[in-house]
Amino acid sequence: MKTIIEPFKIKTVEPIKFTTKEEREKILKDAGYNPFLINAEDVIIDLLTDSGTSAMSSEQWSGIMKGDESYAGAKSFFRFESAVKEITGNKYVIPTHQGRAAEKILFSILGGEGKYFISNTFFDTTRANIEFTGAEAVDLLCPEGKKPEVVAPFKGNLDVEKLKAFIEEKGKENIPLVMMTITNNSGGGQPVSLENIKQVRKVCDRYGIPLFFDACRFAENAYFIKKREEGYSNKSVREIVKEIFSYADGTTMSAKKDALVNIGGWLSMNDDNLAMQCRNLLIVTEGFPTYGGLAGRDLEAIAQGLEEVLDENYLRYRIRSAEYLGEKLTAAGVPIIEPPGGHAIYIDAKRFLPDIPPEQYPGQSIVCELYLEGGIRSVEIGSVMFGKYDKKTGRLIPAMMELVRLAIPRRVYTQSHIDYVAEVVIETFKKRDKLKGYKITYEAPVLRHFTARFEPVI
Ligand code: F0G
Repeated sequence: MKTIIEPFKIKTVEPIKFTTKEEREKILKDAGYNPFLINAEDVIIDLLTDSGTSAMSSEQWSGIMKGDESYAGAKSFFRFESAVKEITGNKYVIPTHQGRAAEKILFSILGGEGKYFISNTFFDTTRANIEFTGAEAVDLLCPEGKKPEVVAPFKGNLDVEKLKAFIEEKGKENIPLVMMTITNNSGGGQPVSLENIKQVRKVCDRYGIPLFFDACRFAENAYFIKKREEGYSNKSVREIVKEIFSYADGTTMSAKKDALVNIGGWLSMNDDNLAMQCRNLLIVTEGFPTYGGLAGRDLEAIAQGLEEVLDENYLRYRIRSAEYLGEKLTAAGVPIIEPPGGHAIYIDAKRFLPDIPPEQYPGQSIVCELYLEGGIRSVEIGSVMFGKYDKKTGRLIPAMMELVRLAIPRRVYTQSHIDYVAEVVIETFKKRDKLKGYKITYEAPVLRHFTARFEPVI
């Protein structure tokens, strides 16, 4: 059969509140034209993030009941630890309340002035945790990854030649870690190939630099390898996942993505001394090493989620959902990052609104219009999120790309929800000539996109 169906039945439902366009105009204005400041209840389809928004299975919910809430040595910890070890192969597994808590611990220990960390593309919290220590976060994405219109199978790859040159220039002693983000969220949810992982590993070995994964969407990445990389079509996703992690010395993970839970994360590694330092810091900031920042019930749900995410029927449906939306949009001429990523569709705002300059945040303009038009919440990943100011002139240094992300929560929306999203985006595209730019009226010194307020430019 050609039709790919949702590989689950719906046992519990949550009603959607419908709003009118007039109501949404007021809501958006009151929220300072920032979707992060809109109440979730006022959103019809919420594509703000795929993080922590998954629907859990009945097995996960029964895990919640089974959670062992003992302070130390809880049974749920050991189930969690063994599930994470099964995937990562790492010796030490440290639970954290979410991904950025793992990042905070890792980079507090390894970071500091004069240090450089290299990635295909660091996610914003990862970058912030590195920069917070005084170190520099350097993105060395492959050239095709920077061109939204170019169709290539592994646009998340790290540029290996640039990596070698950078290490030679700055000195291996100043580079405590290379981190590959799989899939590359900020670059369009694009996967990294195993070939690229192997090459990066080789370079890291040559210079004695550890390689870590930011593994949030590891299962989606593995499925892309199965579908696109030569020599992997007959391997199971589980085998591919094992091979991916066999090349890493450790991981940071937000379980809110590919562990199919609403909260959780981990830090895992093989190095004895680093693990000891991380655990010591964990006790100060998160909790005892057998629960981190989590309850026993959360650890159970993660262990179960890690089983379910490797189900290839699930992954086929999952990857197809984004692709389906992507196909509808490209057929209508809407410019997106091609090919569609694993967890989201990224609209290319530069091509959607070529007349609105980066200083007027074209991505933000689309985000606002999608909310007004159809109550869809999305997020700008462009100069609002990654723009910086020139220290001398105070002028905006725009981000590499101006994108709008439509992130698809796992197991939450059906095909007709996705059809509705496509219709709203296409309607917005048809009237793109009427869209206005935005200016920022308030911003915080770091991670400004979460709390910034805007006004339309008249
Ligand atoms: N790394 C990547 C690649 C991420 O996408 C995220 C979160 C994190 C780290 C941090 O994890 O949220 O558990 O602390 N991404 C979410 C998103 C917020 O919407 O893409 P966290």
